[in-house]
Amino acid sequence: MPLSKVKEEDRQRLLRAAAEAARNAYAPYSGLRVGAALLTRQGHLFAGVNVENASFGLTICAEGAAVAAAVAGEGAAMRVRALAVVNDALTPCPPCGACRQVILELGPEAVVIFQGPKGLEEKKISELLPEAFRLP
Ligand code: THU
Repeated sequence: MPLSKVKEEDRQRLLRAAAEAARNAYAPYSGLRVGAALLTRQGHLFAGVNVENASFGLTICAEGAAVAAAVAGEGAAMRVRALAVVNDALTPCPPCGACRQVILELGPEAVVIFQGPKGLEEKKISELLPEAFRLP
């Protein structure tokens, strides 16, 4: 089995786009600039960044912003094939619980690439969120 579930070329594209996007983050409160880039099943690339707010709970995560951009670009049928998330501090940055739920709904087969404690990691979203909420 190959080491990566994502083609090396796509993996590099995603990581580069996520790092470039992170430079545009609006993070005056935490100082942590996060960038996400996703590849859709149709083969398009979309990026997102964290957008913080003085009312902290209103902060938008980079992954959710990337998913929103992808839906805006392709419509409701958009599905995530792979998503990479990085931050400018190069510290571990797995998607938060809420973002896992968002990614899974629009990409049940999605592969997520993120900085772990010992370097880049790659996991299926279903591994990251084994018991996702689904509307009964
Ligand atoms: N953040 C993300 O953008 N994605 C995550 O999955 C976790 C956290 C952002 C939110 C906030 O602006 C900053 O990182 C610190 O929590």
